[in-house]
Amino acid sequence: MRDRWSSRTIFILAAVGSAVGLGNVWRFPYLTYKFGGGAFLIPFLIALMVLGTPLLILEFALGQKLQKGAIHAFQHVHHRLGGIGFLAITASFIVVVYYAAILAWALVYFVKSFTFNLPWVGDAEGYFFGNVLQLTDSISQIGGVNWWLFLALGVVWLAIYYCVRKGVDSIGKSLKILVPLPLVLLGVLLIRGLTLEGSLTGIYYYIRPDFNALLSTDLWLAAASHVFFTLSIGFGIMIAYASYNDKKQDITENSYITSISDAAISLFAGFVVFAIVGYMAHSTASTVADVATAGPGLAFVVFPQALSMMPLPWLFSILFFLTLLTLGLDSAFSMVEGIIVVLGDFFKATHKKLAMIVCGSAFVLGIIFTTRAGLYFLDIVDHFLSHFGLVLVGLFECIAIGWIYGPEKLRTYINSVSDWHLGAWWDYVIKYFMPAVLIILLVVQMYHEFTVPYEGYPIWALEVGWLVVIIPLVIAIGMALHGSKTSVKCCKK
Ligand code: PFF
Repeated sequence: MRDRWSSRTIFILAAVGSAVGLGNVWRFPYLTYKFGGGAFLIPFLIALMVLGTPLLILEFALGQKLQKGAIHAFQHVHHRLGGIGFLAITASFIVVVYYAAILAWALVYFVKSFTFNLPWVGDAEGYFFGNVLQLTDSISQIGGVNWWLFLALGVVWLAIYYCVRKGVDSIGKSLKILVPLPLVLLGVLLIRGLTLEGSLTGIYYYIRPDFNALLSTDLWLAAASHVFFTLSIGFGIMIAYASYNDKKQDITENSYITSISDAAISLFAGFVVFAIVGYMAHSTASTVADVATAGPGLAFVVFPQALSMMPLPWLFSILFFLTLLTLGLDSAFSMVEGIIVVLGDFFKATHKKLAMIVCGSAFVLGIIFTTRAGLYFLDIVDHFLSHFGLVLVGLFECIAIGWIYGPEKLRTYINSVSDWHLGAWWDYVIKYFMPAVLIILLVVQMYHEFTVPYEGYPIWALEVGWLVVIIPLVIAIGMALHGSKTSVKCCKK
């Protein structure tokens, strides 16, 4: 008998917990700021509604109907298509390996915040690169393992293992803390942020609409690719999570609740980030544009510096890094669970044993990111995977359902269990619109890649990035040529 979520609420918490993560705090606000402030919301919401949510509906429907993880689900669609699931879970595995490394940095900062004199006061940048990462000058100098990061990574993996060890039971329990807690913490940080001088200037920069930006294709492409990452689609996770639902769950409602919550939390996080960035610009007499940044630079340089300039710096540092840790942990373990569900479809081992194998091997692989050149590797792997890996999986998913399985067939099932019925528009989106957009996205990104090699890294390093995408792709093609003996039957009780 397949495991089940204890309630629908827990399933929704799991999906929202996966979707809401570091991407909401350090990517969305920056994209909004960079691409025309309030105007970015238009492409973002459109991409969310016409790309993200329809694909989320597809993944929820597939997992729930077939009661399988990603590989078996696609093998059911066609016995040669298991490779799509394989691509999805390799993407998950690789992302979680470096996502956990980022959580390890957050853990180091969290621990270091328990002091009245924060160690990064005055030089947050030097502290991050020099003390925490001990970054070497180039990717060619590996520089050995940084043992503090190694230790922190071990603790993060123990926490992830602890959350997933008993499957839906332990996941359900951790979600009751990991979903609401960061929201409360963000609320506290927002109130603190709004009461600081300069915060309103920051917020003004964040939301001021520049409608001219809507004419840029880059803006639309950025919105489309962000929607994939932020909703955790193309990773096989939402398929795995939905496979723990009984087959009568309302799919459309669950999908809209998940995507709207994710968008709302992104927006909310943007206010927090820009209130504090505005304060920092004010205190250092610089402009918001000089201070605003995305990714690790925001969370580990700009924010620590801003926090260190506030009254009670240690308290707000503790709260901020706890927010990052709690936001990221449920996203991280969702990737692990997506892989465990697939392994469980193939092997009879207990959930605990599979969890141990996945967490143990991801930890060992993650050691590369704890070396003194770890940040470079992380940057390259993240770049190639988020630009090519996910888009490819999304494209294959749409082709598999749109052209082989038949979107009407899946829609009939979705409508039979959902209050809100999907119209035939969904079939067109899956069959034509989404593949067209994703192909354009791929071609444009490929063009960028070959005309401006990413960040001037040496060729061998970029080749490593390409291999991260190409090796799983070759394996998936091999699976397609070989095919499995029979297609997987649906829905064994
Ligand atoms: N959606 C998460 C975020 O926005 O941070 C990241 C993520 C989690 C991506 C899980 C993929 C995934 F499978």
